[in-house]
Amino acid sequence: MSKKVSRVSEWIFWRLPVDKVWKEHLSEYFAPKNFNFWYYFGSLALLILVIQLVTGVVLTMFYKPDAALAFDSVEYIMRDVNWGWLIRYMHSTGASAFFIVVYLHMFRGLLYGSFKKPRELVWIFGMLIYLCLMAESFMGYLLPWGQMSYWAAQVIISLFGAIPYFGEDLAQWIRGDYVISDATLNRFFAFHVIAVPLALIALIYLHVVALHKVGSNNPEGVEIKDNKDSDGVPVDGIPFHPYYTVKDILGVGVFLLVFSVILFYMPEMGGFFLERENFIPADTMTTPEHIVPVWYFTPFYAILRAVPYKVGGVLALGCAVLILFLLPWLDRSNIKSIRYRSKAFKYALSLFVISFIVLGYLGTQPATPVAVIFARIFTVIYFGFFLLMPFYTRNEKATGEIPEHLTCDPPLDEVIREKHWPDAKRKFLEYSVMKEVKTESGKVYKIPVLNFDALLTRVKERFSSTGNKSQK
Ligand code: HEM
Repeated sequence: MSKKVSRVSEWIFWRLPVDKVWKEHLSEYFAPKNFNFWYYFGSLALLILVIQLVTGVVLTMFYKPDAALAFDSVEYIMRDVNWGWLIRYMHSTGASAFFIVVYLHMFRGLLYGSFKKPRELVWIFGMLIYLCLMAESFMGYLLPWGQMSYWAAQVIISLFGAIPYFGEDLAQWIRGDYVISDATLNRFFAFHVIAVPLALIALIYLHVVALHKVGSNNPEGVEIKDNKDSDGVPVDGIPFHPYYTVKDILGVGVFLLVFSVILFYMPEMGGFFLERENFIPADTMTTPEHIVPVWYFTPFYAILRAVPYKVGGVLALGCAVLILFLLPWLDRSNIKSIRYRSKAFKYALSLFVISFIVLGYLGTQPATPVAVIFARIFTVIYFGFFLLMPFYTRNEKATGEIPEHLTCDPPLDEVIREKHWPDAKRKFLEYSVMKEVKTESGKVYKIPVLNFDALLTRVKERFSSTGNKSQK
């Protein structure tokens, strides 16, 4: 049986280099040996992508992209289609989970300087993925054709109208009509189901290929490719498979557990994942009291509302996202890991995180005068983190000695060879007897063979001398 399998695999590998790809990206891709908690989120993002694709395909089988039928078709999925409620909730909860995981994944990049040389392209591809993800969820949210679907899309698309000269035409071109209508729903459906997922898959492929070209960063910020052994293998690396595949399986298990609890007990997350207004069919004549986007857009929504002029707000919103692209060049320091970064950077990063969370909260609240003042303060902090970065990172001094290796220096295998091997050899010979062995050609060699009797006597002596009372 196994011979047959190996012949089939040989036949395939000769024609398709699956084995080569497996080796290059898994079994012989050497990743730093000190990955921690923060390194779970890349593989989890991949898992959620698969969940979204699979559940999305099933939803498409029953959904109707028609303004007159869309809302009812979603209700049909929730009430009448076998397991439809589960598939729909997996998809809607999956969207929020995607953003949670991606935000943590991006934050890891900030913590360990993974956006810096030589990983600038990995970061840029990541940012393009982030933009696509935003477009994907924005268009997906229109599809249920609920009140918030309709009015949030109306507000966001009308923002394009604020662009001077061609803004209005652009907004109309995006909608395919003067207002959000059946034409908008149709094109959003096409983009959400086909175009953007394809772009996402292509970008994720490029993201991982670019990462594997330069190699992964790690919590110490050590470049493991700078320290290879005589076989060209990074001394501080371990093969991704099986070591990190096993680690990632643990992450997947824990994630699925948490995901299931949310899915089965609080799929709408009190109106954060699926807003209450969206359980009312879209009504072009009634505007909801507070039009609020889903939680993952609210930090940017708060920035938009913080600026008094519409054009300024739209500009600030755009810049708040696009400025992240420049991170590799705004940070002038050579220190990668947060473990060795200056206090100034640590404070700046903490303030940035606080501003992002507070803006996120403010974006969910009505724009009262007090809320707008707070939004302005935290918008300044948000942009300050990026715009002042070249200054507070320029002459950064490391706090502590930055390591060059993750293992001891000299490498462990040399230490074993030089220091412990003679000791081990002496011990082996102590419990061995020399035996003569004859080869087929008649040559006689003397080799040491372990003398079990000597070893056993020694173990017995040790056992009786240390006393075996405690063993009883
Ligand atoms: C669908 C979304 C995404 C997927 C599936 C994805 C996937 C991955 C995977 C599998 C890795 C390698 C494993 C790991 O380091 O955790 C990785 C690394 C990385 N990703 Fe992403 N990613 C996504 C989005 C992003 C975004 C939005 C950014 C930032 C803008 C980003 C930046 C990075 C960086 C800098 C690394 C290298 C980290 C290091 O070596 O320390 N990724 N990504």
